[in-house]
Amino acid sequence: MRAGAPSSGKRVLMGAVGAETRLAGMVVRCMDCGATETADRPLAACPGCGGLLDVVLPGLGERRISPTEIGQGLTANLARSGVWRYRALLPALPDEAIVTRWEGNTPLYEDDRLAEYAGLTQGRLAFKHEGQNPTASFKDRGMTVGVSHARAVGARIVACASTGNTSASLASYAAAAGMPALVLIPEGKISGGKLAQTLAYGATVVQIAGDFDQALSLLRLLTDAYDVYLVNSVNPFRLEGQKTIVFELLEQRGWRVPDLIVLPGGNLGNTAAFGKALVELHQVGLIDRLPRLVVVQATGAAPFAAYHAGGYVAFEPVLAETLATAIKIGNPASTSRARRSIAQTVGLVTSVSDDEIMAAKAAIDRAGIGCEPASAATLAGLRQLVAAGEIGADADVVAVLTGHLLKDTEAVITYHLHDREGALQAGANRPLSVAAELPALERALAHALHG
Ligand code: F0G
Repeated sequence: MRAGAPSSGKRVLMGAVGAETRLAGMVVRCMDCGATETADRPLAACPGCGGLLDVVLPGLGERRISPTEIGQGLTANLARSGVWRYRALLPALPDEAIVTRWEGNTPLYEDDRLAEYAGLTQGRLAFKHEGQNPTASFKDRGMTVGVSHARAVGARIVACASTGNTSASLASYAAAAGMPALVLIPEGKISGGKLAQTLAYGATVVQIAGDFDQALSLLRLLTDAYDVYLVNSVNPFRLEGQKTIVFELLEQRGWRVPDLIVLPGGNLGNTAAFGKALVELHQVGLIDRLPRLVVVQATGAAPFAAYHAGGYVAFEPVLAETLATAIKIGNPASTSRARRSIAQTVGLVTSVSDDEIMAAKAAIDRAGIGCEPASAATLAGLRQLVAAGEIGADADVVAVLTGHLLKDTEAVITYHLHDREGALQAGANRPLSVAAELPALERALAHALHG
């Protein structure tokens, strides 16, 4: 790793041969000062004012895209990806830079028991299961674009700070690209499954004696000074990939717009990406109105919900605490972008307790769908807002499940096997233990076998 002078120094170090020419038309714009920059080098913030950046898709306002154009004109490899299928609405990275593991293509599940749990009319709730991506979370959609951009600009090392899923995804995509990955994680605060993935895919893992917010701040200092490409969701290319969650769910619905799209909020990258996706789909005529975004945070990590409730007067970071470790974030990096998404979609923001999250998760798991705790915040938030009358029972809703059940087996085992205040948790499914002989098995199963 070589130190470089911030930004301009890194341009020389990172510049791939020909990147300036190949990526000449690719532009990012600062959401605060409006300055534009060519994206032929890594840019995590506006070099002028430090604001967050958006990728600009040239000519979007002047062109209509019809449903039949989607997925056309792609190589066989790219056509299999549920991200690159939407290439007409993504930055024009050169084919040879693209690293894909055929991410996306995730199912939309409906289950009447879960609609009832939410207080919605049957048939009005679907779950977009992003846990069914290659590394079992939605992060793969962002990573295919982020790592491909890193390749296109000639980055030598890709890096992220993470609560576990981004690190697993980055480690996998960097391995696929043959690039070294550096990961900073808060020590002891990410699930075993996510740590295992990250180690197994071969990333260099540094455990920080601090929380996620500290790990991200530290990494930003490092990437400001060294020739290292940052792929956290401050990176505008990551978010381009995450837009495809919205593209795909709408295409699966025949471009019929739901009333609400519900998602968990942590670092708020998805909230940012979803707003941009919806505005762009509207611009090109694929949808005729915008659904409302509903962002759900965990009560112990809900600075954005508080900011929203206070009318966006003053943002106060918090010291995050929640069982849903994926969203244990007290100072979300994409707060200003998320605020814009909520304004554009007349969205709602709320928070739910860990008990509500775990009860909703148990319901999703028992329906055979399953998800990790952070994902279940969606159902818990929906149930709360329907009960409060803020969402009507016949609203047409898609909720996004962001990660797979196996991402956090510790949470599942604790819920089902450990008493809480001397009693089983609601719906806990305790295994029976018996001697390895038939009579003992019959005694244990007497009730189940004979009704
Ligand atoms: N759900 C899951 C399963 C996540 O892993 C994350 C974020 C979120 C929701 C929140 O999404 O940040 O876009 O608001 N995980 C990041 C990580 C922070 O490092 O894996 P967001």
